[in-house]
Amino acid sequence: MTTTHAFWLAGRQATGEGTFEVHHPWDGTVVAEVSVPTEAQVEEAVAAAAAVAGEFAATPAHVRATALDHVSKRLAERTEEIARLITAENGKPIKWARGEVGRAVSVFRWAAEEARRTNGETQRLDTDAGGTGRFAITRRFPRGAVLGIAPFNFPLNLVAHKVAPAIAVGAPIILKPAPATPLSALVLGEILAETDLPAGSWSVLPVPNDRMPALVKDERLPVISFTGSDKVGYQILDSVPRKHCTLELGGNAAAVVLADWSSEQDLEWAATRIATFANYQGGQSCISVQRVVADASVYDRLVEKVVPRVGAQVTGDPSDDSVDVGPLVNEDAAKRVESWVDEAVAAGARLLAGGKREGATYAPTVLADVPADVTLSCEEVFGPVLTLARVDGTDAAFAAVNDSKYGLQAGIFTHDVRTAFRAHRELEVGGVIVGDVPSYRADQMPYGGAKQSGVGREGVRYAMEDYTYERVLVLTGLDL
Ligand code: SIN
Repeated sequence: MTTTHAFWLAGRQATGEGTFEVHHPWDGTVVAEVSVPTEAQVEEAVAAAAAVAGEFAATPAHVRATALDHVSKRLAERTEEIARLITAENGKPIKWARGEVGRAVSVFRWAAEEARRTNGETQRLDTDAGGTGRFAITRRFPRGAVLGIAPFNFPLNLVAHKVAPAIAVGAPIILKPAPATPLSALVLGEILAETDLPAGSWSVLPVPNDRMPALVKDERLPVISFTGSDKVGYQILDSVPRKHCTLELGGNAAAVVLADWSSEQDLEWAATRIATFANYQGGQSCISVQRVVADASVYDRLVEKVVPRVGAQVTGDPSDDSVDVGPLVNEDAAKRVESWVDEAVAAGARLLAGGKREGATYAPTVLADVPADVTLSCEEVFGPVLTLARVDGTDAAFAAVNDSKYGLQAGIFTHDVRTAFRAHRELEVGGVIVGDVPSYRADQMPYGGAKQSGVGREGVRYAMEDYTYERVLVLTGLDL
């Protein structure tokens, strides 16, 4: 029998009216039913968040840090169970799901550390005659309650990136998980309920997407942290231009292999990393490798190494330890990827591997000579598809990276530190990874995009800055 999962309303479990089903992307079985909050329950959660905002902001750091440490510890203890849940709701291979839980453990640990460390700044004001005897202290205070809207591709860790910084700064949060993958967020609720955080400081509400516009516009939630598609992200921003919005949107990340990255060992490393990170989680990461841009002097040797490595990716049941690539989140997603690949091939692209769909699974795919105007070249594929382009020299390689409406991260394979600094200066992205693929992310790093990849930054300390604003205290009449 399928169990019905309650949600979390102002720190306590509740059920609403009606349920929706969560399906396993691999075999379509119903994994769970989740209760849907009523309008009145959503109102209760928002009112509770607004009411507790002042008290929560004033909570001693040790209370928030202890709660965050507790969550980190409990996630670590429950790793296997939660990883299996991620696999069941998302279809992510179990080895990647375990990695995701490990990352969430570290996000909460970092948040605990930052909560203890955050101090503010001091400034002397007696640098001009008018400031004699005056001194400033600047501290950051929460902007107010946060509405966190999470995507399906990292159902635990991208939830963690919204919840942990909010608790660290003392900002109440209403978390809305993705409809396809609410279960890990609900387990996180179970763990949060074991802490002493004030009632009202957190809720996990699986509100249906069509009811979100009202919540987005609610003035009691002045901060919105959204991760998802650029289309929805910009709809949110346009509907509430006066709110403080952080948008983590799409990308079509490039891995650039330059002429100096040319030994056998160099190319083997690049090819292995590219083949793995074009396909991890079925390519459903905003920083999975979508484009390879390689210098003509190394292109053929690189392609010879990439194609068999992509072909060797093991597809299948994501609960199997040996599987690299599971299903996409649902069959419609796989059909969309199929249609984009078919469009590129019809327009003249050469298929070097993959190109086949079976239900929700799309085979790891490599294409060369993809025309610049097809959907695959312009949009985020969010599937296990890699395009290869040959360029002459670093100028052309960097121009190719920047020739995109997106700018999340780029990976540059070079040994030359001057080229690394040049990439850092010239590439219109939120992060440049040297000697590895663009998919590298440490959770404490600032993470976010340039251009249409988003606004603002996550990464624990950076999200804490986003959720707060500076307030200066000027002391006068001092004997300094
Ligand atoms: C994303 O898809 O934007 C998140 C990638 C990550 O956290 O590794």
